[in-house]
Amino acid sequence: MNRLLLLALSFSGVNALSVRPSNSTECRVIPGDAAWPKASDWASLNNQVEGKLISNIPIGAVCHNTFVSSTLGTVNTYDAAKCNKLRAHWFEGETHMSHPSSPMQYSATNNSCNPFDTDPNSPCTIGNHVLYSINATKPSHIQAGIKFAKKHNIRLIIRNTGHDFLGKSTGPHSLAIWMHTFKSREFINKWNGPDGYKGKAIRLGAGVQGFEAYAFAQSKGVVILSGNCPTVGITGGYTQGGGIGPLSSIHGLAADQVLEYTVITAKGDLVTANSKSNTDLFWALRGGGAGTFGVVTSMTVKVFQDKRTSSALITVLDSGNNTDAIYSGVETFISVELPKLVDNGIYIIWVLQPAGFLIQVRIAHGKPKSELDAFLAPTVQIFSSLGLTPEYLSWDFPDFLTAYKTAPGGQLNVSDLMYGGRLIPRSVSTDPARVGALVAAIRHVGTRTPISGVAFNVSGSVSSPGDVAVNPLFRTTLFNLVLGVYMNYSDWQSNMDNMNLITQDYVRGIEQATPGGGAYLNEADVQQPNWQDAFYGSHWGRLSQIKKKYDPTAVFYSRTAVGSEQWEERLDGRLCKV
Ligand SMILES: Cc1cc2nc3c(=O)[nH]c(=O)nc-3n(C[C@H](O)[C@H](O)[C@H](O)COP(=O)(O)OP(=O)(O)OC[C@H]3O[C@@H](n4cnc5c(N)ncnc54)[C@H](O)[C@@H]3O)c2cc1C
Ligand SMILES: *[C@@H]1O[C@H](CO)[C@@H](O)[C@H](O)[C@H]1NC(C)=O
Ligand SMILES: *[C@@H]1O[C@H](CO)[C@@H](O)[C@H](O)[C@H]1NC(C)=O
Ligand SMILES: *[C@@H]1O[C@H](CO)[C@@H](O)[C@H](O)[C@H]1NC(C)=O
Ligand SMILES: *[C@@H]1O[C@H](CO)[C@@H](O)[C@H](O)[C@H]1NC(C)=O
Ligand SMILES: *[C@@H]1O[C@H](CO)[C@@H](O)[C@H](O)[C@H]1NC(C)=O
Ligand SMILES: *[C@@H]1O[C@H](CO)[C@@H](O)[C@H](O)[C@H]1NC(C)=O
Ligand SMILES: *[C@@H]1O[C@H](CO)[C@@H](O)[C@H](O)[C@H]1NC(C)=O
Repeated sequence: MNRLLLLALSFSGVNALSVRPSNSTECRVIPGDAAWPKASDWASLNNQVEGKLISNIPIGAVCHNTFVSSTLGTVNTYDAAKCNKLRAHWFEGETHMSHPSSPMQYSATNNSCNPFDTDPNSPCTIGNHVLYSINATKPSHIQAGIKFAKKHNIRLIIRNTGHDFLGKSTGPHSLAIWMHTFKSREFINKWNGPDGYKGKAIRLGAGVQGFEAYAFAQSKGVVILSGNCPTVGITGGYTQGGGIGPLSSIHGLAADQVLEYTVITAKGDLVTANSKSNTDLFWALRGGGAGTFGVVTSMTVKVFQDKRTSSALITVLDSGNNTDAIYSGVETFISVELPKLVDNGIYIIWVLQPAGFLIQVRIAHGKPKSELDAFLAPTVQIFSSLGLTPEYLSWDFPDFLTAYKTAPGGQLNVSDLMYGGRLIPRSVSTDPARVGALVAAIRHVGTRTPISGVAFNVSGSVSSPGDVAVNPLFRTTLFNLVLGVYMNYSDWQSNMDNMNLITQDYVRGIEQATPGGGAYLNEADVQQPNWQDAFYGSHWGRLSQIKKKYDPTAVFYSRTAVGSEQWEERLDGRLCKV
């Protein structure tokens, strides 16, 4: 599909991913087709997975009188108390991550079972939720799922926590392999793998989440690379997609530190991928995107010495008539101070929104507060010299985890925004001739809706860029820009319109100011035009070859994953070859 056609489609107001009509008859089977597996086939799958097959009911069903599906018929589902509880906790990751089918990105559900519908008589159907989930607890359950999907030609999804912003862990008419129970954690004092590394390592099961990995590492006196969000699946989409986090400017991306994966391939084999075995697969799984090359069952990563840590917070409120001064300060901050801060290993998230500007220094690992205060003094000075009144707060912590849990910026809502993103080249941010245009594009968004930047320096000094599949543009990026527009649960069409606003106005404006930039495949616009290039950069060709080698029939399909360009998702949710 060429870029022009994609743009034309999105300008027509229909989301581009769902309408790419072709005449192909090579399609996945969906319910209602003669070839759809019979009840007895599903029963036999359930036997093979020892009763772990779940026929899904969407999480919002407790707010509707009935759930109607082809698999379960009509089920009475309304429960006022459960519905109220669900609504009260809807924006928390915990609500969705232990559920077999709920994606945190609500815009990926097709609004088929809205938890905030005021009329309980309104319909609740399966929509884009996974139809069945295997609550896998061992490799044979995963192998049975892959075999079943291949035999019956149905769509297969790998689900872990459901965090994916692009909706890659959900999909209509599909069978999901759900990895949530794979929680093993093992400390290895002296690694003895083929790569020659002899230091400390940790092996994690596929279902381990950030907070569990961080706590386990701390119990061993070390730190591990995971994200800012405590509930993200570290072995799942996070590390396989690259993985930006609080230690990025010190130890690189999460994918840079992987020593080994164990993986179940499309053939159904359980294999090891490391620097000696299945080296191409090992390369691809380090940043080439999850849900693409196989089902990872475990990952072993290098870990590092824990150190004392400090954190800080700078706030500048927008009073309505100081916006010019704020953005003038932002320009100096981005072009002059931010590069120095990341080069010194300091992890920074800045946020702009109509209410003002925030700089969250979540983690300065290894730096006492006094040192951090000195690093940040020039930034505070930028804003005060513009007549603004920045508030400055900072704290000392004994270790990484205490800072991570205590410093502001760790409480993140889910299911509230639709996103777009862009990797901002350091060459643009620090070029006096170009940073003005970038900040103007940021201001266009930031005076309307939240926009943020997670800043890092993951150049060769802290990682091995040549060895991993991560988009090479990361190595010359100063910050990953993410913007969001609030979802409206009572006006679905406005959400679809806003997705197009993100693509055609907000992200496009940033793109025009940052030629040569790309986007982080885990934190980007699902409608990103020219996504192969933007998400994978110069690694696209090699990743495509590896996909063909390990998954020639595309058992694993995720939107915007390598290989997905050969498929289209039609309006009825059917997946067909283009
Ligand atoms: C609130 C929030 C904060 C975030 N913060 C950060 C951050 O600080 N840094 C950062 O880099 N990212 C961050 N992310 C993005 C995050 O990395 C991605 O959403 C990631 O895809 C989550 O992976 P998961 O396995 O938890 O999620 P899921 O949605 O369950 O899965 C994501 C993708 O991984 C695939 N997958 C899952 N498990 C496996 C497996 N075992 N084998 C193969 N494929 C698998 C799925 O098929 C899907 O394609 C954040 C996301 C959210 C919602
Ligand atoms: C679909 O088939 C018709 C008739 O064979 C053909 O004219 C048309 O170009 C095809 N469309 C696509 C997208 O292949
Ligand atoms: C998505 O919603 C639209 C409108 O309700 C509906 O026509 C379409 O069939 C839905 N798609 C799926 C896959 O359920
Ligand atoms: C999934 O399996 C685990 C482990 O057996 C179990 O504790 C959990 O309740 C199951 N979840 C669901 C939704 O069935
Ligand atoms: C605008 O700035 C002036 C001081 O320069 C201040 O007195 C006034 O309250 C501000 N107005 C608003 C709306 O904040
Ligand atoms: C998070 O969601 C809660 C409602 O559950 C809301 O009160 C709060 O303002 C939200 N926080 C942010 C930062 O959006
Ligand atoms: C990143 O930091 C290293 C030193 O740690 C430095 O050599 C390099 O110039 C910095 N900037 C970029 C863009 O890599
Ligand atoms: C959501 O949409 C409804 C209907 O269009 C509108 O009345 C309401 O103000 C919107 N809510 C928000 C928060 O924008």
